[in-house]
Amino acid sequence: MNTDFPAACSGALCLCTILLSHFIILANGESQIACGKRAVTIRTSQSRIVGGRDAVEGAWPWQVSLQVTNKRAHVCGATVISQWWLLSAAHCFPSTNGFNNKNQWRAVMGLRDLSIHAKWTITRKIAVLILHEQYNDIQNDIAVLKVDRAIGFADYIRAACLPKPGKFHIEKWNHCHVTGWGLMEQNGAPARILQEAAVKLIPLETCQQVNWYGSRINDKMICAGFAGGGIDACQGDSGGPLSCQLKGTDRFYVVGVVSWGQGCAQRFKPGVYTSTSTYGDWIEQKTGILISQSEDSGVEFEIDNGDAGTESLTGKQSVPPTVPNGLVKPISLVRRNTPGRATPLLNLIIISYHFYISCCS
Ligand code: ARG
Repeated sequence: MNTDFPAACSGALCLCTILLSHFIILANGESQIACGKRAVTIRTSQSRIVGGRDAVEGAWPWQVSLQVTNKRAHVCGATVISQWWLLSAAHCFPSTNGFNNKNQWRAVMGLRDLSIHAKWTITRKIAVLILHEQYNDIQNDIAVLKVDRAIGFADYIRAACLPKPGKFHIEKWNHCHVTGWGLMEQNGAPARILQEAAVKLIPLETCQQVNWYGSRINDKMICAGFAGGGIDACQGDSGGPLSCQLKGTDRFYVVGVVSWGQGCAQRFKPGVYTSTSTYGDWIEQKTGILISQSEDSGVEFEIDNGDAGTESLTGKQSVPPTVPNGLVKPISLVRRNTPGRATPLLNLIIISYHFYISCCS
């Protein structure tokens, strides 16, 4: 028997250490659910929001309904981007009607039919609401919200991937969809069942043409829809995701946040979305989520230790990144899409073996 290890490592201590390490791994396990992947297989069919169709249960597990508590009414959409953070649009929180008060809101996840809470549906309060400091009308229309309790990921609730911070490149994305419970016609009725619609990304130069939106569009915005109109987001979809697949992968990224449009589904007036890659640094800074992704190798890390955003002011605070320069103390580290990645079970076996060899043999 190898007796190098201090005698203090009694059998009981060993057992405790092993159990503790197992507990940490298991507790952490749900955060290892990959971003941007659905648990359900969805048959793609022709699409009919405006011009959309009912989404299948679990098709958009990162879709959130933001509701004003005293009315219990859906007001805006949002996207789950980590176990602690949601992404939405700043214009959803106007100070004029007190909507900038985080206590007015609740976030509902795992929802399809607004009137039916399934057994997997969860509700969270908002602990921190951060609007972009330079938000003004249609400019910098982005916000992040920290929930009061971690979101446990499961089949019908999980995060969308965040695109790598930087310039938006239209050609990298495929199969874009906008989703939400907004109006199904301009001035029409809101949806009860989550709607989805496939939309095309529109080049900036096209969208900036004078008979489109002209100079109202800048490179921090993305236009998506169709020249002829007919399919679009509408009032009530704001803050929700424009989800696109990164070409060559099977993952959905929240490429845009529903922001504005002239009417809904009008000719030459597509939906306008806040470009999330353009605000990637801002999102990282406010949430502490490290969006570091090598799209070429398909290896991706997103680290969220849930530390950021401990203040609960609205609009003006700047939460220092908890993980400067990529030096991390990861409580949850998610390494994605890496062939041969160790599973939690494998980790568990390796660590058990390690402890056994070093202290108990
Ligand atoms: N501002 C709207 C809202 O608050 C969303 C508008 C999107 N409009 C559009 N045509 N795509 O819900």
